[in-house]
Amino acid sequence: MANYNIYFSPTGGTKKVADILSGNLLCDFADMDLCKEIPTLSLSEDDVCVVSVPSYGGRVPAIAIERLQNIIGNGAKAVLNCVYGNREWEDTLTELQDTLEKQGFRCVAAVAAVAEHSLLRQFATGRPDAEDKIQLTEFSRQIREKLDADEITDLHLAGNHGTYKVFNGTPFKPMANDSCTGCGLCAKECPVGAIDADNPLVLDAGKCISCMRCVSVCPKQARGCDAALMAMLAEKMAPLLSGHKENHLFL
Ligand SMILES: Cc1cc2nc3c(=O)[nH]c(=O)nc-3n(C[C@H](O)[C@H](O)[C@H](O)COP(=O)(O)O)c2cc1C
Ligand code: SF4
Ligand code: SF4
Repeated sequence: MANYNIYFSPTGGTKKVADILSGNLLCDFADMDLCKEIPTLSLSEDDVCVVSVPSYGGRVPAIAIERLQNIIGNGAKAVLNCVYGNREWEDTLTELQDTLEKQGFRCVAAVAAVAEHSLLRQFATGRPDAEDKIQLTEFSRQIREKLDADEITDLHLAGNHGTYKVFNGTPFKPMANDSCTGCGLCAKECPVGAIDADNPLVLDAGKCISCMRCVSVCPKQARGCDAALMAMLAEKMAPLLSGHKENHLFL
């Protein structure tokens, strides 16, 4: 039996939730980071995976879907985890379920949890917090109970299956400023190879998915988006992103 904590977490919020769920649910698990290329993996019926992705525009990031296609489920059980930045997750969980079922997984439970918004950090700041941790631990207990039952029922998620809302990305493409030392870390860490490794000042905006990983890894705080544009976005989104949004469990 093998257990995996599989996650796409450019700025670490999704991984915080994934680690709480996997830590409580799985023993002896291995991490699999979808921000990097992953090797082909063939699982078996006894295996259990927690598969975690952030919601981008209410969808699963396309690169995460592409990398999940390297894993063949063969009936392995999947616990789905969608992490959202205090707005909504819309079709993220149904798209993740459809993707994993196509890969041969058996989906048994799903979580939608809040983490700090990776583009607009003034929203859901500090989440998941201590209260979230307690709730996610209780979710894990209920999922474990389901996994240990003699007969496991399949997960039925309401919402769109097969056709999903359209998300065309954002215009927020972080550039390096004069503090950049050219160390190349952002280019190495970019999940989609959008930054030129020989010259980190050069960005392929068509490839960039605005995940903000380069901003969070830069040791010189030299990368960022246009401040005026970000302020406009924050003002526009404030009514949708404010307040305390809940974590949800689907069994
Ligand atoms: C490009 C982009 C799109 C996003 N779209 C949504 C969204 O539709 N709804 C939402 O609640 N949060 C949205 N977020 C916030 C992220 O889902 C949330 O911050 C998540 O924790 C980021 O994962 P990470 O910390 O693992 O990188 C978006 C973030 C980015 C960068
Ligand atoms: S990580 Fe920061 S300092 Fe290093 S190349 Fe990228 S922007 Fe420049
Ligand atoms: S260049 Fe774009 S895709 Fe690459 S890490 Fe930065 S924000 Fe993410």
